[in-house]
Amino acid sequence: MNSLYSAVVVALCTMAAIPGAIASPVAPPQPDTNFSATCTNIGVNLSTLVLTATCQRSGGVGTTTSSIGLNSCISNTNGELTTGNGFSSSCQNIGFSGVNLSAQCKTPSGTFINTSIDLNVVFSNNNGLLTCP
Ligand SMILES: *[C@@H]1O[C@H](CO)[C@@H](O)[C@H](O)[C@H]1NC(C)=O
Ligand SMILES: *[C@@H]1O[C@H](CO)[C@@H](O)[C@H](O)[C@H]1NC(C)=O
Ligand SMILES: *[C@@H]1O[C@H](CO)[C@@H](O)[C@H](O)[C@H]1NC(C)=O
Ligand SMILES: *[C@@H]1O[C@H](CO)[C@@H](O)[C@H](O)[C@H]1NC(C)=O
Repeated sequence: MNSLYSAVVVALCTMAAIPGAIASPVAPPQPDTNFSATCTNIGVNLSTLVLTATCQRSGGVGTTTSSIGLNSCISNTNGELTTGNGFSSSCQNIGFSGVNLSAQCKTPSGTFINTSIDLNVVFSNNNGLLTCP
């Protein structure tokens, strides 16, 4: 690499860096809202359909244990478990494994098909509290 080329590269990099430094002062670290990565003791009471977990609070300062109803966060959409609400009235044989909820859910034609959903796509850790959209 010759020195002229090096100088041009350094100049371009410096020019590229300045607007960014001015436009975005140090951003605060985003809390990690990933449910399964930041919560432990993840459990589902299959009688009440309540999810309970112990989740890290923002900034890693302690944990909070909270519960949330699956039925207010999960839907049956044409036989598939999705985000939404009210799945339990049209699904049966509900099970829980690891971080997946499984069930047999009714399709528009009236048959029941196996379906499952990764609870990580439904729930977030909001400063220690379980939330869903
Ligand atoms: C959330 O965490 C889980 C478990 O660590 C990981 O498998 C998954 O990829 C993460 N999801 C996102 C969107 O980061
Ligand atoms: C589920 O919740 C009910 C009602 O609170 C409780 O009686 C039962 O022991 C719970 N089951 C489990 C497995 O925790
Ligand atoms: C959860 O479901 C995914 C996708 O179907 C599967 O790959 C994974 O093994 C399941 N995990 C558990 C603990 O059942
Ligand atoms: C559906 O799930 C049930 C219970 O987990 C299982 O016994 C059955 O073999 C599954 N059926 C199909 C078609 O995968």
